[in-house]
Amino acid sequence: MYRKWIVKLTTHARFSTLCLHAGQEPDPSTGAIITPIYQTSTYVQEELGKHKGYEYARTQNPTRGALERNLAAIEGGKAGFAFASGMAAIGAVATMLRSGDHVVVSDNTYGGTFRLFDKVLTRYQLSFSYVDTSRLDEVERAFTKSTRMLFVETPTNPVMQITDLRAAAGLAQRHDAPFVVDNTFASPCIQRPIEFGADLVVHSTTKYLNGHSDSVGGCVIAVRDDDIEWLGFVQNAEGAILGPFDSWLVLRGTKTLPIRMVRHSENGLALAQFLQQHPKVRHVYYPGLPTHPQHALAARQMRGFGGMLAFELGSLDAARQVLKSVRLLALAESLGGVESLISHPATMTHASVPADHRNALGITDGLVRISAGIEDIEDLKDDLTQALDRV
Ligand SMILES: Cc1ncc(COP(=O)(O)O)c(C=O)c1O
Repeated sequence: MYRKWIVKLTTHARFSTLCLHAGQEPDPSTGAIITPIYQTSTYVQEELGKHKGYEYARTQNPTRGALERNLAAIEGGKAGFAFASGMAAIGAVATMLRSGDHVVVSDNTYGGTFRLFDKVLTRYQLSFSYVDTSRLDEVERAFTKSTRMLFVETPTNPVMQITDLRAAAGLAQRHDAPFVVDNTFASPCIQRPIEFGADLVVHSTTKYLNGHSDSVGGCVIAVRDDDIEWLGFVQNAEGAILGPFDSWLVLRGTKTLPIRMVRHSENGLALAQFLQQHPKVRHVYYPGLPTHPQHALAARQMRGFGGMLAFELGSLDAARQVLKSVRLLALAESLGGVESLISHPATMTHASVPADHRNALGITDGLVRISAGIEDIEDLKDDLTQALDRV
């Protein structure tokens, strides 16, 4: 009977089936359909050297293990590792580097990633070149003899630039550098970087994977055996693991990822079209708009365009007025939850990026970002209409 449960997934199970079931078996002691929260720090051993495969909960936890198998399956990787935050996951990936190594990074990567690289990792003789990875010629030029990693975020936060994943993977491979993709903005429902040749995928599970704005976490998905061995070792050695309750929340979140992402994408596109028509809005950044410079590429490598968009109002005063006037959209950092959020990248998510660098990236004082939730689209439009009327 138990064996039957284990093989419930065929080798060709499709994405939404994997989201719901992968990594999870009925609990062996009770048959509980939902993986329990194993809130324990240690496991009783029968006698010296005889145990059930669990010794200490930093090293192994069944709830975390179920989530890690689930995440690996839905990203199309071989193994997953869950961390205490997206930044802890990126920090773990950085341990694959050695002193003297050089990394090529997307120039408008998440501000916290830039801060980790620029303020922490440069103290360990690592160097970073920030380039517009949507321009493959610039990426190629940035490679040096010491380059040991290409780290790409696509779409970028908040101006939604797209990097050609297949071309970038080919370039990294030619230079023998692991290709790492931060897939937080798209989620594996919309974009699966491993299918295009990525070696490692990172996520802030805080966002779409958990999806309900009630957990902070991160993960790394790997395909190569040497990377898997190292990441498992580092996860235990550094200890920045995701706890059992957060693991359970994310596991619950991925069950509804496919249906949430459809609605996030519908609302994202509808808001982008609405804002593009609005006389007070100067520019809208959304890869689903035919006016987006990389719309064709986005359509090729993404399934849907997601719920993230940004728009330019021309001044800090106008941005402040909109942010002050919205009622339904919540002024808050973060993204990817079921409720819509609105934010001001220049002073919030990207405050740690120097002003000249920010402006060069288009992250002006008048730029506003929206994470479209799954509310009724008419209510979101009504809210933005009344807020824009006050500008
Ligand atoms: C694209 C991206 N990567 C990584 C992170 C860091 O994740 P966390 O906040 O879970 O540490 C974030 C957070 O906003 C993000 O947007």
